Amino acid sequence: MPKEKFKVTPWEVKGKVDYNILIRKFGTQKISDDLLERIKKHTGELHFMLRRGIFFSHRDLDWLLDKYETGEEFFLYTGRGPSGHTHLGHLTPWIFTAWLQEKFDVHLYFQMTDDEKHLVKPLSLEQTTGFAYDNALDVLACGMDPKKTHIFSNIEYGKTIYKEAVKIAKHVTFSTAKAVFGFKNSSNIGIIFFPAIQAVPCFLPSVLEGKNIPCLIPAAIDQDPYWRISRDIAPKMGYYKPTQIHNKFIPGLKPGGKMSASDPSSAIFTTDTPEQIEKKIMNAFTGQQPTAELQRKLGGNPDICTVCQYYFYLFEQDDKKLEKIFEGERTGTLLAGEHKADLAKRVKDFIAEHQRRREKAKKIIDKVMLRD
Ligand code: TRP
Repeated sequence: MPKEKFKVTPWEVKGKVDYNILIRKFGTQKISDDLLERIKKHTGELHFMLRRGIFFSHRDLDWLLDKYETGEEFFLYTGRGPSGHTHLGHLTPWIFTAWLQEKFDVHLYFQMTDDEKHLVKPLSLEQTTGFAYDNALDVLACGMDPKKTHIFSNIEYGKTIYKEAVKIAKHVTFSTAKAVFGFKNSSNIGIIFFPAIQAVPCFLPSVLEGKNIPCLIPAAIDQDPYWRISRDIAPKMGYYKPTQIHNKFIPGLKPGGKMSASDPSSAIFTTDTPEQIEKKIMNAFTGQQPTAELQRKLGGNPDICTVCQYYFYLFEQDDKKLEKIFEGERTGTLLAGEHKADLAKRVKDFIAEHQRRREKAKKIIDKVMLRD
C-alpha cells in the first residue's frame, strides 16, 4: 500500500498526520507511561488530554521534572498567531496550559505573533494586532490565572522583544533557518528573521529576573521547528534549553485534515452563534453508513467520525461515557441525527459559557497585557 503523504510545518498542515512518523522525523520523545506516572505524582490526577495521548510527545520533560523536584520553579510559554477569530482547535493547548498552570502554580508568558501573521498572510498589521486583543480574551476565558499570566503582542511589546531577538539572531545562520523552515529566495526577509522573535519568550523571564528559569512550552507539534532553533542556541547564550510538550491537531468537521480557520465550515469559532454551531455540526462528517437501516445493521467507524472525535478531544472527558458513545457508533445503535444533535447541544453550552468568561475577561485584559 502506498504510504499516505502528509506535511507539517508551522505554516501548513496537510493530509492525514502519522504522529509516530512525526516523532521520528522531528526527533522528539513519546510520552511514556513512566513519565505519565511521574507527572501524576505532582498533579494528583492526569488530565484527559494526557490519558488519551492528545498530548503525546515531548522534549526534556523529565529534565524539567528533575529541576522542579529539586525546588526550581519553571514557567510556561505558549502563543498564538492572531490571524482571525479563535476556534476550538486553538483552545486545546490553552485548556491544557491552564491546567498545568493551576497544578504547578506557575507563571505563563503568552506571545501573540501579530508580526508573523502580517508577514505570512494577506492581512495588515493593524488587523493582526486587533486580533491579538480579540484572541487574548479567549486565552483568559480558558481559565488562566490573571495574576500569573502575561500576554503580549510582539508589536506592542516590541522594544523589549527586539532587544533580545537581535542577540538570538546573531547565533542563527541563514543556512540553519533555511534547513529548518524551508525558506526560499522568494521568502520575505521579515519571516526569515522571525524565528528569533518566537525564541525570545523561551528566555525572557530569565532576562527579566536575572537568573536562569526552566521553560516548558505546551503547543501543537507543528511549532517544533522553532524550538529546535531555540534549543540549539540556548547553551551558547548561557540559558537552559526550553522543554516542550506537544499536542495533536483536533480534526475538522470534514473528513481528514485538521480544524482550519481558512475553511470556516470545518471549524467552530468561539464567536459563533448557536445557529451557526448547530448548522456546522448537523453538516459534519460521521463515520456512519449512508442509511439508518445500514447503520443499524453494519455499524460505523468512530475513528473517522468527526462527531466521535469531538467527544474524544474535548466534549466527553469521562472515559467510560466516551467508550459508550464509541460503542454506539460501532454497533449501529447510535444514529447520525441523534449523535449530531447531542454533540451540538454540548458544543453550544460550552461556547455559551466560554463567551460569558470572554466578556468577563474584558475587564481585566489591560492588567494582563505586557506593553513597553
Ligand atoms: N507561531 C505560532 C502560530 O502561528 C504562535 C506562537 C508564538 C506560539 N509563540 C508560540 C505557539 C509558542 C505555541 C507556542 O500560531
